[in-house]
Formats: sequence, structure tokens, C-alpha cells
Amino acid sequence: MRVLVTGGAGYIGSHTVVSLIEAGHEPVVVDNLSNALRSVLARIAEVAGVTPEFHQVDVRDREAMAGIASSGIDACIHFAALKAVDESIRKPLEYYDNNVRGTIDLLAVLSAAGVRNLVFSSSATVYGDPTELPLREEMPTGRATNPYGWTKIMMEQVLTDLQAAEPEWSITMLRYFNPVGAHPSGLLGEDPRGIPNNLMPYVTRVAAGILPRLRVFGGDYPTRDGTGVRDFVHVQDVAEGHVAALERLSGEPGLHVYNLGTGRGHTVLEVVKTFEEATGKPVPYEIVGRRPGDVAESWADVSKAERELGWRATRDLATMCVDAWRWQENVR
Ligand code: NAD
Ligand code: UFG
Repeated sequence: MRVLVTGGAGYIGSHTVVSLIEAGHEPVVVDNLSNALRSVLARIAEVAGVTPEFHQVDVRDREAMAGIASSGIDACIHFAALKAVDESIRKPLEYYDNNVRGTIDLLAVLSAAGVRNLVFSSSATVYGDPTELPLREEMPTGRATNPYGWTKIMMEQVLTDLQAAEPEWSITMLRYFNPVGAHPSGLLGEDPRGIPNNLMPYVTRVAAGILPRLRVFGGDYPTRDGTGVRDFVHVQDVAEGHVAALERLSGEPGLHVYNLGTGRGHTVLEVVKTFEEATGKPVPYEIVGRRPGDVAESWADVSKAERELGWRATRDLATMCVDAWRWQENVR
């Protein structure tokens, strides 16, 4: 399949482009490079042996996108979005414009070009504060605690309404839990600017001596050791989940929703311990107050993806840590 990949130079997008090439597909990458480097394309080529077609275009540029969409595209995977929770609180209009308007613009262009196969990057954040675990796809979506989360809930609604109005669309919404890790080559990974918000990039920077110690947000949650629980999933598993969804569902009209996680939760302190054991690098930490907006626990029921997509995550937490660390050593 010739697959338009918006945000394909980003963290999850670049890994997915590699998985697509490895599965014999032809990715066409669109990225405005607002949160990625052009050099990622050369790295993809080094890993996958093929340089993907690349357009430095914003998904809101309908004219440029129309030209690309009419170049024989079979399906689209839509990653392009802004994703920093803190920033979204400070710049809500930028987030709604980029994420929500960007998605609406993209859908209009795809529709006009007759492309009605879409895989969309959603997030476990749409479940809000869980009342029951594990999280299942049919559970109601909740209330977001920040504009970024609201953009995901809104985009899911837009996609749901579109599919109801135009039932020939195949729309798959993949709700990622906590993607971490990096490509085992050490060539692709996540390199957030400034001080990372997310746990794993923070841990690798502490291990590298760039940051003095991890601040563990909250030691008094009702969990095994008092720290937050998340379903960490290797980014390569997430990437492969997209290929599975595309191969199973494009051309199958309907609205399809899947969790992408491992089905297992780990506490923040378990991540620290596993990282230290797997890499031999100490991660000094201190327990501080809870971070506003955080939920105590979140993990996925992954049986639907296993059953219907034939996909399940195969890489364990130690592998996620080792791969994240290899990448950290490479970008230093
Ligand atoms: P990322 O920032 O690395 O990738 C997003 C890419 O989209 C970047 O390369 C950026 O330059 C590009 N982009 C942003 N706005 C664009 C626009 N208007 N036009 C063209 N390109 C644009 O982020 P990621 O972690 O790879 O996330 C990919 C998707 O997965 C996002 O939709 C994100 O919300 C979603 N998601 C990520 C996580 C996570 O923990 N990483 C969790 C749940 C969902
Ligand atoms: N944490 C720390 N210290 C840090 C960073 C994180 O203790 O420096 C803790 C958090 O409190 C939480 C856990 O580590 O308990 C995971 O935090 P992350 O920021 O890595 O991930 P979140 O689950 O908060 O957020 C992720 C994505 C969001 C998305 C959300 C729900 O980053 O984009 O999952 O899907 F909205």
C-alpha cells in the first residue's frame, strides 16, 4: 500500500515508517518539522534501506496536501499533532488549531481525493480518570485535564461523526498507552527539547548525568509502592500495531477502536529499578508531591487488538529501558 504518514518524522511516526517499509509498503511522509529533524529521514533510510518520499508540509496547507493526497494514496496514518501537556495549557488555541483543525483539513483533503482509509493516533488520555481497570475500548471516554487531552477527545468525536455520516470510511483509532524505548539500532528515538516531561526520557537523562535526579511525582497513590502505575509499551510494538491495523482494516468500512499497550502496569519505582538492573546505571531519585492532572493508575485491556488485529506487544520493560538508554548514549 502507498501510505500517507503525517508526522512521519516524529518519534512514533519514524518507527512506523520503518515498520511499513519492512512490511513491503510505501510510506509517503508529510511533516512540517515543528518537532522533528530532517536528518530523521536519512536515519530511516539507514535502518530500513529505503529513503521514504518526504514532503515538508503542514497538514493545514490544504492545497499542498491535495496534491500529495491525489498521488495514488491508498491509506493515511495521521500522527501529526502537538503533544506537550504543559504547553497545551499555556497555548490552547495553538493546540486546537494544529490538532483539531489540522485533522479536519486532512479529512477534507483525503475525502476529496477519494482516500477513505485512516488510522488515527489517539491516546489513553481519552479515558480520563479510570473508574475501573483494565481500560476497555467500550468504556466511555472521560473528561480531559488539559487542552491536549481535549483535542484527542474532540478528534475522536469528529472521526466518529464522519464515519456515521459517510459509512464507506474505514477509520481506526488507536489509543496508545505509554510508548517508550527506541529503535534497537540506536538511530531512532525521542529527543525532547529542554527538560523532558515524560518519565523515560527523564530517567535516561538522569542516568547520563545530564539531570541530577528524578523527581517521582507522588509516593502516596493507592498502588503497590505508592507511585503511579502506567502501561509502558515499546515504540516498536506500537509501530507494528499500526501496520497490523492497516493490513487488517483498510478497506473494511467502519469505526474501529483499539488499545495499544502491553496489558500490564508498572509503577514509577519499578521502572527505575528495571532501568538500573538492565543498564547498570544508577538513577537517583526523590519522591515529591503529585503532579496535577495525573491519574493513579492506567493500563489497558489488550485482548481486542490481539483477537481482531492479531497484534500484541512482545517487548518487555527491560528491553524498553535498554533501547531507550542506547538511544540516549547516541544522542548525547
Ligand atoms: P512527535 O512530536 O515526535 O511527532 C509528531 C510529528 O508531527 C512531529 O514530527 C511534528 O513535527 C509533526 N507535526 C506536528 N504538527 C504538524 C502539522 N500541523 N503538520 C505537519 N506535521 C506536524 O510525537 P509522537 O510522540 O511521535 O506522537 C505522535 C502521535 O501520537 C501524536 O498524535 C500524539 O498526540 C500521539 N500520542 C503520543 C503519545 C506518546 O506518549 N508519545 C501517547 C499517546 C498519543
Ligand atoms: N513521572 C514522574 N517524574 C517525571 C515524569 C513522570 O514521576 O519526571 C511519573 C508520572 O507522575 C506518571 C508516570 O511517571 O505517574 C508517567 O508519566 P509520563 O509523563 O511519562 O506519562 P503520562 O502517563 O503522564 O502521559 C502520557 C503521555 C500523554 C498522554 C498520557 C495519557 O505523555 O501525552 O500518557 O495517555 F496524554
